[in-house]
Amino acid sequence: MELNKIIEGRRSVNDFEPNGEISKQDIETIIEKATLSPSSYNLQHWHFLVVHDPDRKKVLKEVAYGQQKVEDAAAAIVVLGNLQAHERAKSIADDLSEKGYLPEEYKENVINQIQGLYGNNETMQRDEAIRGASLAAMTLMYVAQDMGYGTCPMIGFDPEGVRKEFNLPAHLIPAMMITIGPAKEENNPRKSRLSVNEVTTFNGF
Ligand SMILES: Cc1cc2nc3c(=O)[nH]c(=O)nc-3n(C[C@H](O)[C@H](O)[C@H](O)COP(=O)(O)O)c2cc1C
Repeated sequence: MELNKIIEGRRSVNDFEPNGEISKQDIETIIEKATLSPSSYNLQHWHFLVVHDPDRKKVLKEVAYGQQKVEDAAAAIVVLGNLQAHERAKSIADDLSEKGYLPEEYKENVINQIQGLYGNNETMQRDEAIRGASLAAMTLMYVAQDMGYGTCPMIGFDPEGVRKEFNLPAHLIPAMMITIGPAKEENNPRKSRLSVNEVTTFNGF
C-alpha cells in the first residue's frame, strides 16, 4: 500500500475481532520490519514481548486495568527498551567498520563515545531506550496496517505488574504496549489534530 494511505488510514483501534487471528509468522514479519527503524549509533534498543497465548493475554489484561481490547486483540506486543544497549558498542563498531562506514582506526573512538554518552548516565540510558523502542513501535504499527491488521498503542498498564507477571529482566523497560489483530471497525472519523501552524516554529522561538 502507498505510504500516504497507510498513514492516513491508521487509527487506534478500540474494537478488535474477539476471534480474530494473527499468525506467529505474520508477527515475526512485522517485527523484522520494525527492526529496520533507526536508533542512536544503531544500538537497536528495542525488544518485543509478544503475548499471543489466550491465557497470557488474560494476565496482561489484568495488569492493563482490565482493558478488554488486550484480550480481544489477536496479540499484544509490549515494546521494551533496553537500558544496556550501549554494551553492544563493540559489535556495532565492528559492523560499521566492515561495511566501510568507519575506518578501523576510529573504532575505539566510537566505542568510547558510546560508553561516555550512556555508560554512567541513567537518564540518557532511559531516554534512549524509550526513544528507540518508540521509533520501532511506530514502524511496527505502520507495517501492521499495511498487512491489514489494526493496532492500538497503549500506556494504560502497570509497568511493575508487567515486569512481575512476565519476568522482565531489569535492563528492559516497557515503552508501550501495542494491541494488534483484525479490527471490527473501519474508517472511523479521524480525531482532531493541531494544525501545522500550531505545532511548528521555524528557526527558533
Ligand atoms: C503512548 C500512547 C499511549 C496510549 N495509551 C492508550 C491506552 O492505554 N488505551 C487506549 O485505548 N488508547 C491509548 N492510546 C491511543 C490514543 O488515545 C490515540 O492514539 C489518540 O487518541 C489519537 O487517535 P488515533 O491514534 O486514532 O489517531 C495511546 C496512544 C499512545 C501514542
